[in-house]
Amino acid sequence: MTYDIAVIGAGVIGCAVARKAGREGARVVVLDRDEQPRSASWAAAGMLAPHAESDSSGEFLSLLLRARAGFPTFVESLAAETSVPIAYRADGLLLLALNEADEADLDERFAWQAAAGLEVVRLTGSEARTIEPAITREVHSALLFPGDHQVENRQLHAALRQSAALAGGEFRLGEAVTGIQAGSEVLRVEMGSGSHLAAKVVVLAAGSWSGEIAGLPRPLPVTPVHGQLLAIDSAEPFLRHIIATPRGYLVPRSGGRAIVGATSERVGFREGTTLAGLRQLASIALEISPSLEGRPVAAHWGGFRPGTPDDLPILGADPDVPSLIYATGHYRNGILLAPITGEIIGGLAVGGQTDADLFPYRPDRFREPDSAELSEESGGLT
Ligand code: GLY
Repeated sequence: MTYDIAVIGAGVIGCAVARKAGREGARVVVLDRDEQPRSASWAAAGMLAPHAESDSSGEFLSLLLRARAGFPTFVESLAAETSVPIAYRADGLLLLALNEADEADLDERFAWQAAAGLEVVRLTGSEARTIEPAITREVHSALLFPGDHQVENRQLHAALRQSAALAGGEFRLGEAVTGIQAGSEVLRVEMGSGSHLAAKVVVLAAGSWSGEIAGLPRPLPVTPVHGQLLAIDSAEPFLRHIIATPRGYLVPRSGGRAIVGATSERVGFREGTTLAGLRQLASIALEISPSLEGRPVAAHWGGFRPGTPDDLPILGADPDVPSLIYATGHYRNGILLAPITGEIIGGLAVGGQTDADLFPYRPDRFREPDSAELSEESGGLT
């Protein structure tokens, strides 16, 4: 039996692609190395924050803004079709300046975002404390981004998975894909168990593990960028907005819970949390709100953002093997980009084309430095 589409990776991206393709009538199988796929979709803090996460305007910011604009409707339709409630909050994000260097950072961010016509409000320290009384008295000034929202990412992931299954997607969890072989009509997908399956189209959505699959037509430079997070509990909600500084963030969740994130470490696939990471997270939380000092730590965990050399995702068909389609490398924006990636890549996988401009995200934009460049970089030591 040949599947129309095999999706490698059952995170939010893979599930969103499978949902779209299944709804378009394709016979879809989703494979994941984990029996309980968690990884970045589970570890994330659920920030939908194009304003706070971008350093310049351009194509990618436009994609993030489009993704954010469509998110509430997407969540409503998912919630209507599944039994999973999804907490969505549109309360905005407050970025604090706590010292002069932060002020310079905020000035620059305000200047380019205001010039680009984005919605950003400059606040004094006391104005920031009026709308968020729990933040530190040390706040110099702040930027308010009303358009940055948040979603409960684990609920989103569960709903996407249920929706993809309702659309006919077959899930094979605990099946690590080890290799792909392109044939004349179909792709052969090989698994660690020794079994294999055939699919007309393969969508590679394996996050940080995407480059590890044998037989890809080109090296895929996706590398894990480890993020550590923790959750603190409080008897009452104490924040409304997401509160960030240039060093990290606090994301309020339902009740008195808040997520503190995140480290950003290129340490390979080292799992879990470290004392140094937890110290960094404690200092992020306490400089935002020193009164949190006595709050209990409810949980701490880590996950792997799929990073790429230019911090942009890899989206679209392989130029040499068009039936192999990439949907990976979403780095810090995987939750935000899941619905729009599902729409674009699911549509491409079924219909063979898309109106979306995927040129900035093409898989062949990376090239190996040639030997002359390497010898210049290494000071001529050859
Ligand atoms: N998007 C937040 C993070 O990657 O830490």
